[in-house]
Amino acid sequence: MNFLDYIESRRADNLNELKDFLRIPSVSTKSEHKPDIENASRWVADRLRDAGFPQVEIIPTKMHPLVYGESLQSPGKPTVLFYGHYDVQPPEPLNLWTSPAFEPTERGGNLYGRGTADDKGQVHIHLKALAALKHAEGKLPLNVKVIVEGEEEVGSVNLWDFVTNNKDRLKADALVVSDTSMLARGVPSITYGLRGLNYYQVEITGAAQDLHSGVFGGAVPNPITILAETIAKLHDKNFRVTVPGFYDDVAKLSAKERKALNSLPWKESEFRNTVGAPGLCGEKGFTTVERLWTRPTLELNGIWGGYTGEGSKTVIPAKAFAKISSRLVPNQKPEKIAKQVERQIRALLPKTVHCKFDVLSMGKPWVAPYSHPIFQKAIHALEKGFGKKAVFIREGGSIPFVTQMHDTFKVPCVLMGFGLPDENAHAPDEHISLENYFGGIKAVAVFYSSLAQA
Ligand code: BES
Ligand code: MN
Ligand code: MN
Repeated sequence: MNFLDYIESRRADNLNELKDFLRIPSVSTKSEHKPDIENASRWVADRLRDAGFPQVEIIPTKMHPLVYGESLQSPGKPTVLFYGHYDVQPPEPLNLWTSPAFEPTERGGNLYGRGTADDKGQVHIHLKALAALKHAEGKLPLNVKVIVEGEEEVGSVNLWDFVTNNKDRLKADALVVSDTSMLARGVPSITYGLRGLNYYQVEITGAAQDLHSGVFGGAVPNPITILAETIAKLHDKNFRVTVPGFYDDVAKLSAKERKALNSLPWKESEFRNTVGAPGLCGEKGFTTVERLWTRPTLELNGIWGGYTGEGSKTVIPAKAFAKISSRLVPNQKPEKIAKQVERQIRALLPKTVHCKFDVLSMGKPWVAPYSHPIFQKAIHALEKGFGKKAVFIREGGSIPFVTQMHDTFKVPCVLMGFGLPDENAHAPDEHISLENYFGGIKAVAVFYSSLAQA
């Protein structure tokens, strides 16, 4: 049986197997899920063995293990490195899920559950494509190295150590990743740019302890008011970030790229529907697509302090906190931006409070040309799986490993994503379209198979 017929014959088995994977609550940010993380890493290792990988290792790191597999049984054929992640974001708020986050459920042509789109479902697409090639041809027709890590959702903190210590071992002719989205349903897409991400936490302290607001209110600094005022000053009325120097290194989009990105079959009305807000906003002078993919941002992710429980409490809190991040674009430098943001926040604060500023993580943006012949093979494969020619897009999200790999090995990185923009990644009711899941397995198998044909 050829591999495409085999894939077709395995539809039900593949989907059931994916559901097993999704039932493991491999939330990387919470220590209570450590056993689930270990369990998920073993699960991936077993599936690599099923796909005929003679070498499979679970490699411990300072935090969560990564799974590494190698099948080098096709001398003279190209070598690809596939990267994905088995960890997921926390499922909270639980009450907003229609079916429980870790009980995968089919509904309306989609599979619902945490990790369906980001990224377990997409990793499984590759595992099953490889298993089909191995089954149909007796062995994998090209050389494949696989990294599936467990720390992507917390910034891939320890992965880089592994890469730098195993540079020779990880050498490949191309990197292949499925951890992104299609532009829209029915529009297979290859992503050639991602934004970088810097993440900061700010702690503002006023009084030495919480104070009675009647006894002290009006005569002492309130850190929540001061933090709110400071944060409000970080953007101007045109939605530009006011941090001095923030835009200095931002690369100007060429007229050609600007035209290409704005002519994609992307519908603002669909985007509005997905967002669901009464209106959109953003940096003056740029289209929504440009704002999302090519412009840097400064975002407030969370702000807290004082009393937030039931009823009322009259208090001047001693502390206020905020989690702030910046998405970065070429050629911004993460270290430089972090310093600029810290300097500006400190400059805006009055002398009546202290400020602790922590940089939790930093990551560079990535944009690369797509002229290498491998991209023609990717287009062809996606056409086989989805019946349509692929488009080249940039995206606003971040995948630290892609930037690191591209910097280190300078190899082409093929990002073929099978998610959709409205699939609620990181949110309640995350799902993957079954059409994309099944089409993805075919496309990826055709892609790997075509790479073997020189
Ligand atoms: N798969 C996403 C990245 C992504 C999302 C790329 C959408 C393109 C489109 C990844 O799992 C993710 O969520 N990354 C984090 C960064 C990380 C450092 C926590 C992100 O982008 O917030
Ligand atoms: Mn992901
Ligand atoms: Mn994610």
